[in-house]
Amino acid sequence: MVSTSPVATSPLPWAAGGVDLSSPNRNLAPLSTDIDAEGRLRVGECVLSELAQRFGTPLYVIDERSLRQACSAYREALERHYPGPSLAVYASKANSSLAITAVVASEGLGLDAVSAGELLTALEGGMPPERIVLHGNNKSSEELALAVQNGVTVVVDNWHDITLLQELAQGRTEPVALMLRFTPGIECHTHEYIRTGHLDSKFGFDPDQLEQVLTHLAGCRWARVQGLHAHIGSQIFEVEPHRDLAAVLADALVLARRLGHDPSDLNVGGGLGIRYVASDDPPSIDGWVQVVAEAMVAACRERNLELPRLLCEPGRSLVAPAGVTLYTVGSRKQIPDLNTYVAVDGGMSDNPRPITYQSEYTACLADRPGAEATETVTLVGKHCESGDVLLKQLPLPATEPGDVLVVLATGAYNASMASNYNRIPKPAAVLVADGCAELVQRRERPDELLRYDVLPERLRSVG
Ligand code: LLP
Repeated sequence: MVSTSPVATSPLPWAAGGVDLSSPNRNLAPLSTDIDAEGRLRVGECVLSELAQRFGTPLYVIDERSLRQACSAYREALERHYPGPSLAVYASKANSSLAITAVVASEGLGLDAVSAGELLTALEGGMPPERIVLHGNNKSSEELALAVQNGVTVVVDNWHDITLLQELAQGRTEPVALMLRFTPGIECHTHEYIRTGHLDSKFGFDPDQLEQVLTHLAGCRWARVQGLHAHIGSQIFEVEPHRDLAAVLADALVLARRLGHDPSDLNVGGGLGIRYVASDDPPSIDGWVQVVAEAMVAACRERNLELPRLLCEPGRSLVAPAGVTLYTVGSRKQIPDLNTYVAVDGGMSDNPRPITYQSEYTACLADRPGAEATETVTLVGKHCESGDVLLKQLPLPATEPGDVLVVLATGAYNASMASNYNRIPKPAAVLVADGCAELVQRRERPDELLRYDVLPERLRSVG
């Protein structure tokens, strides 16, 4: 049962030091986080330890209010700061599910998919096809066909896309709506694995090729160039790269016009960073949109261009702050004067970000979020790998096996990057709002992991 006990007014302990709890971007915890009269942490008016008991752990919890608030923050900021038409497009690679698609669609956003799987999820989840864009640096013919048949805009990344699309478009009367992606040649400070705007990137056309591609497409009756796209990277805290990007995109628009196209859209990609630890200080959604919108207006004015439709593709900043992961504490290994390892029942298979990008997180105990820390531990997972560390140097009160631990800001690139390493089943996910928790992704069972194995007959009776 979900508790409805009254809320204590005490501030969240890790919010001490002036953290603004009112903005989803400045926040470490989901918007609807509070503490009940017994001192237990709640999200969406659901007591987290009760969710752990009811649904098991590890458990992804998504706060619907945070997600909706972030969607409307993008929508409203675009309306406020950009005088032309606009659309925020959710980069579903951050967290792709039917439920998240349905929420995002109902908030009026579009969606960016990069595979047949993400595209099917978007279509099934109720995202109108005309608001979907298909990305990818090596799309298959099947993926392109699925997009074209459903009226989804294809973001053309390279000549291979053009060759495949040309074949698919044969016999069609309507031209295929395209966006052209190119590398803008803008550097930004983020992890090298998630940087895409610099020239040495696998994504998009080199800017030197743009004229040639646009000239080619001007002669293709099957194609309609609807827009131009560039994305510079992810988890970015600076705003200057996006300011520069507006001018680069506006120049590309001038070129496209000169070559006979009439694109309506300029798409600046995603990239706004979020706060994982107290020292992170990203711009707010409103602040980021303001910079992008003003830069776009200025760039268009300088070039005498009518304002295009402005698209942006946020992923992380929409879903990361809405999510937390619950784990159950298990074993402990104490090495005197060296280290204390506390292990939980998940790890690198449900959150591969620390081992992949050395990402940092914030964590606390679900039922004693404010308790004084008595030790500093290394929080590890249960995988057979020494690098399976979720948090280094985590200050914690004394823990017992069975305690529920909460890792914050896990709504993006956790579930979507989860694996079955060590044949560990993927966690369940629940959506919480107003004291109600609904299962939106069922937990895998170990026996289901054998579903795709095939044992050849000749090996069956061996041994
Ligand atoms: N648009 C395009 C074309 C992208 O490639 C991406 C992210 C986005 C939008 C959304 O970016 P966001 O707003 O989420 O920063 N797995 C990494 C992040 C990889 C991002 C890939 N592309 C991580 O866990 O940090």
